[in-house]
Amino acid sequence: MKPGARIIGTGSYVPPTRLTNADLERMLDTSDEWIYSHTGIRERRIAGDNISTSDMAVEAIRQALEMSQCSPDEIDMVIAGTSTSDYRMPSTACVIQEKLSMPNAVAFDVVSACAGFINGLAVAKSFIESEVYEKIVVVGCEKLSSVTNYKDRSTCILFGDGAGAAVVTSDRNGRGVLSTFAKSDGTQRELLWIPSGGIKYPYNPDFTDNGSDKLQMKGPDVYKFAVREMYNASVKVIEDAGLDLPDISLVVPHQANIRIIQGLAKRLQVSMDKVVVNLDKYGNTSSASIPIALDETNRAGRLNAGDLVLMVAFGSGLIWASSLLKW
Ligand code: COA
Repeated sequence: MKPGARIIGTGSYVPPTRLTNADLERMLDTSDEWIYSHTGIRERRIAGDNISTSDMAVEAIRQALEMSQCSPDEIDMVIAGTSTSDYRMPSTACVIQEKLSMPNAVAFDVVSACAGFINGLAVAKSFIESEVYEKIVVVGCEKLSSVTNYKDRSTCILFGDGAGAAVVTSDRNGRGVLSTFAKSDGTQRELLWIPSGGIKYPYNPDFTDNGSDKLQMKGPDVYKFAVREMYNASVKVIEDAGLDLPDISLVVPHQANIRIIQGLAKRLQVSMDKVVVNLDKYGNTSSASIPIALDETNRAGRLNAGDLVLMVAFGSGLIWASSLLKW
């Protein structure tokens, strides 16, 4: 029997500073009522100047290592899902490796926006199933406040900072990632992107004025895509595992908008008490959102051995991905 890739420890970190809807009311023409009714978000966390993406990742991984009773030198691989890397080079994963002293690991980033954790887990799964590596850290970590335009009320209300991590190891008892799926459509990349600051349009101070070095989004188009493809991606991994929708114990969706999550639950015919929601506290933390929600659920004792856990995400690319776990 080939080994499965099982999560044996989780951890998460959000910075202490809160940006509430009341704070945003003072900064922009918006209201708590509008934000909450359109998104479900009450507040988000902001890292500030002294906390980097890797700092948040390190805190989340420390907790995951502690729960899994693994020491840093046992880790074979560090995969960081992030689109807000500390440096343009090297990867944030290499910075994390240094900060946590993981001398035996290879470290690299997976850049797939909000699908970063699921795709990182898929990479971990393939290395574990092929028996190349045994213990892998996957972390989703983002400092989205650094790429958010706080003059744009249609985007800045959504995003926050944080990190969530998992230690994944080989398991020969049928537990772990049962199936995984990912797809993208690069023709739609301008629906959600940061146009400048990369190689094509290198940084220029004018960008700060026109906002092109910050996240830009066509919200209603992204919304429609999300509801459609999150459903398709969910059904795909359930079918690939030879299971049916009613078998699912818990859904941990990307935390982007409560209305998207409710729309997904309705189409899946899953009641909301089986769906993890924490976006009221943190907003959308991109690749960190699913592992933070998974860690909070795990620490609350809501996960039992054998539970079938569906994780599903969408984001800039456009990209969408899903993963089905047997806990
Ligand atoms: N406060 C008050 N009014 C706002 C506002 C805010 N923060 N943001 C937008 N509006 C206004 C718009 O200006 C517009 O006004 P108008 O009709 O006078 O032009 C009106 O609200 C409706 O705008 P629209 O963009 O159609 O709102 P919406 O109902 O689609 O909600 C989002 C906007 C962003 C909440 C929603 O589209 C969404 O969540 N999309 C998905 C985004 C997402 O998940 N992105 C991350 C992907 S990983």
